[in-house]
Amino acid sequence: MSSYKVTFLPEGETVEVESGVTIMEAAEKAEVYINSLCGGEGVCGRCRVQVIDRKME
Ligand code: FES
Repeated sequence: MSSYKVTFLPEGETVEVESGVTIMEAAEKAEVYINSLCGGEGVCGRCRVQVIDRKME
């Protein structure tokens, strides 16, 4: 199983998560609060992300 590093900005908190973990789950692990109006259902766009570096290890 692959793992990935996810960094939350502007906090700068980085966590390593396994493939299949959602951004919301990664945020919880990083103790970063995301105001998710729809609870992660993909409706509100509050957890939208920008991939700036994608390295496969
Ligand atoms: S929390 Fe992700 S779309 Fe609403």
